[in-house]
Amino acid sequence: MTHWRYAQGARAATAAGLALLVGCGGSGPEGPSPLPTTAPTTPEIAEIAPLVGAARASGRWVGSAVQANLLSADAVYAGTFARHFDYLTAEWEMKWDPTEPTPGVFDFSLGDQIVAFAEANGARVKGHALLWHQATPSWVESLSSAELQIAVDAHIRIVAAHYAGRVVAWDVVNEAIADEGGVLRDSLFLRGLGPDYIASAFRVAREADPQALLFYNDYNTEGMGTKANAAYELVKGLVEQGVPIDGVGLQMHVSARFPPRVEDVAANMRRLADLGLLVNISEMDVRIRELPGDSATRFAAQGAIYRDLVGVCVAEPACHAVTFWGFTDAHSWVDGTFGADDPLLFDEAYQPKPAFSGVEDAFLRR
Ligand code: G3I
Repeated sequence: MTHWRYAQGARAATAAGLALLVGCGGSGPEGPSPLPTTAPTTPEIAEIAPLVGAARASGRWVGSAVQANLLSADAVYAGTFARHFDYLTAEWEMKWDPTEPTPGVFDFSLGDQIVAFAEANGARVKGHALLWHQATPSWVESLSSAELQIAVDAHIRIVAAHYAGRVVAWDVVNEAIADEGGVLRDSLFLRGLGPDYIASAFRVAREADPQALLFYNDYNTEGMGTKANAAYELVKGLVEQGVPIDGVGLQMHVSARFPPRVEDVAANMRRLADLGLLVNISEMDVRIRELPGDSATRFAAQGAIYRDLVGVCVAEPACHAVTFWGFTDAHSWVDGTFGADDPLLFDEAYQPKPAFSGVEDAFLRR
């Protein structure tokens, strides 16, 4: 049985291709396979050890956000996900605007396609996201407070009930903390319903799907800064009120110029775990466009950041899953938001980058 491993020197390999050597059983009689000199120009599913094997060795779920249209249109996209991941998040198809575009009229078609793909490939599904100040249809914005509470409760109840038994977790409330000041975000939900909208959302979700793990999910809350402290105090309060919350998603959208300090992420995960909560890395990507140096240098630095931050999850017993926000540089939200970048584990031809090696090393504690 041939086991593929990356040569140590490949850590700094360029995106042009990683040095793949036959490991475990040594080289075959013909000697080591010829090293690929450049990534294939046509996308293909890389013949490498599935990342899920390394994740399972550490007792973690490893996942990615996916898009329904790409799953159905791109066999290499679908096949690469199926080979490497066992945890799936719909990148946008299960949010409020695509699922209830008009009041009381639900469209689960795209979410159902994604869940069916996951089930066909033995992957768990995390629903994302029941309540978020973005991706909320415009009809919600014109409701009175009383109508808004009815609409929010109905949306959460109906969507969570629809997927009950088919998802293992939900991001119930997404990004409720303001970017500055350590306070709740000034959203239509806070204005219309008051701060208790968060606890209420979790209670309705639990009633609709008693089996799903219920998460609070946010960004720039990974370390020990003001926003992270506010998120900690928020979920601490929910736990103390007996609100049915099971964990916290740390999105981990990272700039390689300013990654969160490993020790801060570890301390934050630990204090959340001390509340009795699970934690997960829920949307990880590492932007490198602002890094100096050539591609090889930037990809090597990116790989080290992936290794170190996923390593914090592997070292924290309460951190049960790592999800990347996409897995190929061919399809990342980052390009349209921050400018062209290569933030993910596989390049645009679906070949693994040092980022992939870094994550694999973290799971294998190498
Ligand atoms: O491709 C479809 C098209 O077929 C369809 O007809 C059209 C209908 O609106 O939508 C198109 O999809 C777009 C999708 O991105 C794929 O490009 C959606 O319009 C667009 O809303 C969607 O944006 C997503 C965004 O959340 C809003 O839902 C991004 O993909 C997604 O990466 C981003 O993810 C968020 C997380 O949920 C929360 N954390 C931050 C993260 C990045 O903003």
